[in-house]
Amino acid sequence: MKGLNLVLAIAALTTLVSCSESHFKEDKIFAGGVYATAKALNDGKSTYAEYCMPCHGVNGDGNGTSAKGLQVPPRNFKLGQYKFGNVVSGELPHDEDFYKILREGLTGTAMLPWKELSDQQMFNLVQYIKTFAPAKWEGADKKLGDKIVITKDPYGDAHKESAIQRGKEVYHVVAQCWTCHRAYVSHAEFNEMSQKINNKPVTEFDPEMFHIKLQPNDYGYSSLPPEFTYDAVRSAKTVEELYVRLSAGVGGTAMPSWKGTLQDDEIWAVAHYVKYLMDMKTNTASRTKLLETALK
Ligand code: HEC
Ligand code: HEC
Repeated sequence: MKGLNLVLAIAALTTLVSCSESHFKEDKIFAGGVYATAKALNDGKSTYAEYCMPCHGVNGDGNGTSAKGLQVPPRNFKLGQYKFGNVVSGELPHDEDFYKILREGLTGTAMLPWKELSDQQMFNLVQYIKTFAPAKWEGADKKLGDKIVITKDPYGDAHKESAIQRGKEVYHVVAQCWTCHRAYVSHAEFNEMSQKINNKPVTEFDPEMFHIKLQPNDYGYSSLPPEFTYDAVRSAKTVEELYVRLSAGVGGTAMPSWKGTLQDDEIWAVAHYVKYLMDMKTNTASRTKLLETALK
């Protein structure tokens, strides 16, 4: 009897294995007309099982065995929603956007760079990931978001100082980024900037203006807006990459797309300002000075 059970168990296992090996029998066409053969999808599936499944899970729901306790949880691919595409928040990213994330990782999270993957492996993986959210991706009628166009930086290195100054005003008075992130200027300076830009004094200050505020997101947890002189910015290291992120926003979170809300030169200015704050991470003396001045 035991022997028979074993045979049955092996038979069941064999079916499972062979079934998963040839999971996809048909080619698929995804948003933007991207064509993936059944072979590409099956190859993507096995690379995923090896490298990605421990975090992103067998079903792509982000609940892999290694996902437990991660402060920033792995993406749930079943939602078909992504944070760091080079498209306006909420639209479907292009394959190159995923390749960039795979090559560079997301700074400060468990999503590390995957430098060992070949171009073919990346293509296969990205197509396979789309199959977790068929309603969003499958079908020739589905559209990708428009790529964010990187305009010419009107400041450049030559006018960096004036960009930072302008960016500080945009950050605090025009866009009020501090309502989620935090303020980096004193009450007096805030008032001065408001007088200059809005011709209005500020007499009452939000008691929370120097704190970062946790924001609910569409992924079922809360996102902490980064404190730029301390926390990692995940998808941007350069002013240009910051320009893209500010234009695009962070999909499925409170971080909006600023394209259309701010003028193009204001987005560049605030990108320079955020970069200036990020650079303080490695400069403790100027960081301490900045934060102390803000509280005066
Ligand atoms: C050690 C855990 C871990 C592994 C392994 C891992 N990831 Fe991730 N991944 C994460 C985390 C955490 C995030 C979420 C980061 C965030 O929300 O900022 C993420 C996010 C992503 C995103 C979403 C990007 C976006 O714009 O929203 C993609 C795509 C992705 N991973 C693909 C992969 C692929 C493909 C592999 C395998 C080659 C992989 N990941 C392996 C932890 C992991
Ligand atoms: C309504 C709240 C809110 C406002 C207003 C807001 N942000 Fe954010 N921001 C967030 C949240 C939440 C995140 C973190 C998203 C995540 O990764 O889950 C974030 C992330 C970011 C990031 C990091 C992106 C990355 O790649 O990790 C940058 C840079 C940023 N914000 C800049 C700004 C600037 C500049 C402004 C004003 C022009 C601004 N934010 C206004 C909520 C906000």
